[in-house]
Amino acid sequence: MKSFQVNGQQGLSSIHVGESLLNVSAYLPKGATPIIITDENINALYGNKFPQGPVLTIGTGEKIKTLATVETLLRQLIGLACDRSSFILGIGGGIVTDIVGFVASIFLRGVGFGFVSTSLLSQVDASVGGKNGVNLDAFKNMVGLFNQPEFVICDIDLLETLPKAEISNGLAEIVKHGLICDTEMLTFIENNQQKALDLDRDTIFRLVADSVAIKSRVVQQDEKEAGERRKLNFGHTIGHAVEKINQERLNQGKLAHTGHGRAVATGMVAAAMFSQKKGMVSQKDVTRITTLLKGLNLPVELDYPADQIIEAASRDKKKQGSDLYYVFLSALGRARVEKIRYDEMNEFIRSVFC
Ligand code: GLY
Repeated sequence: MKSFQVNGQQGLSSIHVGESLLNVSAYLPKGATPIIITDENINALYGNKFPQGPVLTIGTGEKIKTLATVETLLRQLIGLACDRSSFILGIGGGIVTDIVGFVASIFLRGVGFGFVSTSLLSQVDASVGGKNGVNLDAFKNMVGLFNQPEFVICDIDLLETLPKAEISNGLAEIVKHGLICDTEMLTFIENNQQKALDLDRDTIFRLVADSVAIKSRVVQQDEKEAGERRKLNFGHTIGHAVEKINQERLNQGKLAHTGHGRAVATGMVAAAMFSQKKGMVSQKDVTRITTLLKGLNLPVELDYPADQIIEAASRDKKKQGSDLYYVFLSALGRARVEKIRYDEMNEFIRSVFC
């Protein structure tokens, strides 16, 4: 097991990679019976391993990450006569942890909470760093706040039941960490692609631990994303637009890629090409990135209508008036945030999307 800490404005958060769900009671406040919030899948798979306590379940998928779900949970907490001494334990992937962090932060103006993170994507990104919240209409994470969980347990053994596509989704955020901070990690992923896809325990443990090390270090420097933390958004401006279009296509019953990581992979390809256009990285670097992503079964084609990408990106949280903070690569393993004109990004989008 490897442990990391983020000393947030509202308290200390510890993240334990390789710890087991079975040991979660050791991290709960002394004598506390937690209110457990999970999703139906995780409850069916692992409910028999949960600690003692009432279990509230939510549905699955991005569609339930809404204020309506938050309201339902708040009513259930009132129904259970929870008070300020109550402790909420979220057990699940990023959707569960984003919702639970938000619910725990606003219920009675905030009660204690912790997570057992069950998906690769949430272990390397969503559950770490204290961002929580829900979507509003088609806009991702539009409502939420920063508040660190008291602890996060990243139980590697729980990843075994993940569908293959979910493993690739998590690997996209792992590649992002290598691209923005750590060339050694990038080379390690390149040399161990199949082992990562096959969830080889040592490989995955190292990738999760390296990701949490990077993320907790960045969040420690800039918890509320006023500077350094923006680097974690590499690939996300266009990635979120791609994700929104994919979600709309799926809602209409059309075929589309599913998942945050797949959209971020496409967004990272675009961001790498934008970096190349600005003379920061070479064509060889861009090819190295697309080859790696393809090898991890992630989509790299920019086959979306440019106008739809521009429209979807127009509500990006990083946009400030007619400018936005865009994350480039100044080299492989090094991110650079630049404030650019929104029009400059749109012009680039028109030049590479269809
Ligand atoms: N997922 C980016 C961040 O937590 O800042």
